Amino acid sequence: MSVLKIAIQKSGRLSENSKKLLEECGIKFSNGISVLKTKAHNFPVEVLFLRDDDIPQYVEQQVADIGILGENMVYEKAKEVDVVEQLGFATCRLSLAIPKEETYTGPGYFMNKKIATSYPKLLTDFLNKNKIKAEIEEISGSVEIAPGIGLADAICDIVSSGSTLLTNGLHEVETILKSQAVIISCKNLDADKKKILDNLLFRIRAVKNAKENKYILLNAPESAIKRICDILPGMKSPTVLPLAEKGWCSLHSVVREDEFWESITQLKAAGAEGILVIPIEKMIL
Ligand code: PRP
Ligand code: ZN
Repeated sequence: MSVLKIAIQKSGRLSENSKKLLEECGIKFSNGISVLKTKAHNFPVEVLFLRDDDIPQYVEQQVADIGILGENMVYEKAKEVDVVEQLGFATCRLSLAIPKEETYTGPGYFMNKKIATSYPKLLTDFLNKNKIKAEIEEISGSVEIAPGIGLADAICDIVSSGSTLLTNGLHEVETILKSQAVIISCKNLDADKKKILDNLLFRIRAVKNAKENKYILLNAPESAIKRICDILPGMKSPTVLPLAEKGWCSLHSVVREDEFWESITQLKAAGAEGILVIPIEKMIL
């Protein structure tokens, strides 16, 4: 019986959400999270907890079959792996930042400067593209303190909320790459493992769809139903049920949450009342 080996980050920005995603897919692990390797007891997967920096290499070498990690790492390491799904969490960007009192004049600012980074490949690509000669100081962590301690003039690192830059007196001047969590897979997965991966992706998509959509119920006079259907975005065929009160209906449908918020005032103006918006747990299209 085949088992799909999944590498996820041991600790860091991605680890909690990676574990949560697998749990939301109904996958249950008997061991705690303190172990470095754990098998699911109701789905043919095994999880390996690794440093995110190492995941691309392990997946290329098929030590793990798939991995969950940020695109930033995938493109920095440039290993022979396939990106099979975007997961929508751990969004961040790889940016260049300089001391906040410095005025930025464009990419030429970095000419002959020293830049500290854990992303030498992506930074080199950016510098080459802009024909800038700069010195790269490769360090593996706490990059943001480099200018403050006199190690470099600028940094190139991951920015998420921006608070690390702020506390270190830096300001962001260029974005090199936008990133989110993805699933990577090794090339040539065998047929049995491919089947497990497809099954997992099916579940992941159901979880993702559910998060992006909400179940909506509202009451409205019969005469307003047509107008309300026109306002509600993406509504194909809502369920309309009569209410006990004559001339009134209850309307049920599924809407994208972001689009729903944009039309709420119009809905009320059209006569909708008692609007309930309910989370969906799984959604299979
Ligand atoms: C990044 C980066 C910063 C922090 C920025 O680290 O190195 O320290 O996140 O986040 P903020 O903008 O919200 O303050 P990452 O999580 O990628 O850790 P790692 O390099 O140790 O894997
Ligand atoms: Zn890391």
